[in-house]
Amino acid sequence: MRILSGIQPSGKLHIGNYLGAIRQHIAMQEEGEAYYFIADFHALTTIRDAPVLRQMILDVALDYLALGLDPNKATFYRQSDIPDVTELTWLLTTVTPMGLLERCHSFKDKTARGISADHGLFAYPVLMAADILIVDANIVPVGKDQKQHVEVTRDIAQRFNHVYDREVFIIPEDRIHVDTGVVPGIDGQKMSKSYGNDIGIFTEGKALKQKVMSIVTDSAPVEEPKDPDTNNVFNILRLFAPEEETAEWRERFTAGGLKYVEVKKRLKELLDERFGEARERRKELAKRPDDVEDVLREGCRRAREVTSATLARAREACGID
Ligand code: ADP
Ligand code: TRP
Repeated sequence: MRILSGIQPSGKLHIGNYLGAIRQHIAMQEEGEAYYFIADFHALTTIRDAPVLRQMILDVALDYLALGLDPNKATFYRQSDIPDVTELTWLLTTVTPMGLLERCHSFKDKTARGISADHGLFAYPVLMAADILIVDANIVPVGKDQKQHVEVTRDIAQRFNHVYDREVFIIPEDRIHVDTGVVPGIDGQKMSKSYGNDIGIFTEGKALKQKVMSIVTDSAPVEEPKDPDTNNVFNILRLFAPEEETAEWRERFTAGGLKYVEVKKRLKELLDERFGEARERRKELAKRPDDVEDVLREGCRRAREVTSATLARAREACGID
């Protein structure tokens, strides 16, 4: 089974990203032949600042390696290092109906809000189809928001196979990330970097303490019994605490006499326990950017063994060989 997923380099990762996506990418490298790549060409649809993009690409590579992506198990590369991907994109565009792309949320939502889209955003799903089809992926682990793009990929692959009357591409399936539920931010809304309410995976020490202490709670008197299910600290803590401990906190909330600061202190400890090792690993890796580069180069070399064969098949089917 071949697994593929793309990761947009888009800034500091938070604990919502970890529980909602990264954790599953890392777990799936044990399940099959995993291909994970940094979607830097896709990032150009939103980031137009070269030094910023360069930094974000390095950051996301460091983040994933520190969190457990094992380059001996998964093939880890940069999308832009593989020209086969962009070449295949063109072949795919020639069989992609306009209507298919016009229906995509990524494009539709923007134009519906009166924002003019560029061709990159319009063609975004075709580049994504090329990412997936070029490695003959069977399974594509993604969040719900990307489900439609995998469906578009299936349509394009089926159309290409039909037009050229042969099985050039494997038809992939999505695997929607297990729903951990929405991880709440420090203000209780969905945690998101665009709301500024996130807790970074690699935030530590004083900065982490400040974040955790600023989780919004009510001002009910200490002795009053509290409803844990509507409490932001409890709702984040239960995602990191063992079941038994969560049950104990639940009791303490409902019994009354609990100081929120105690729960917050414990949450910080739990985050340190969960991410402490990864933070140290990241610091070590960050001192050796050349090693990270080596990992990505080796990933590119391995990926190209597969991508060049797929591209050759597609070119031959079209009569461009
Ligand atoms: P953000 O909202 O911070 O910009 P992204 O949209 O880039 O995050 O999400 C990247 C991945 O992380 C997606 O797969 C998404 O499902 C997951 N994710 C993001 N925020 C949360 C959250 N608050 N709870 C659970 N999963 C999340
Ligand atoms: N569009 C995806 C996102 O924003 C990233 C991505 C690019 C991707 N190419 C992919 C995901 C191929 C899965 C497969 O999250």
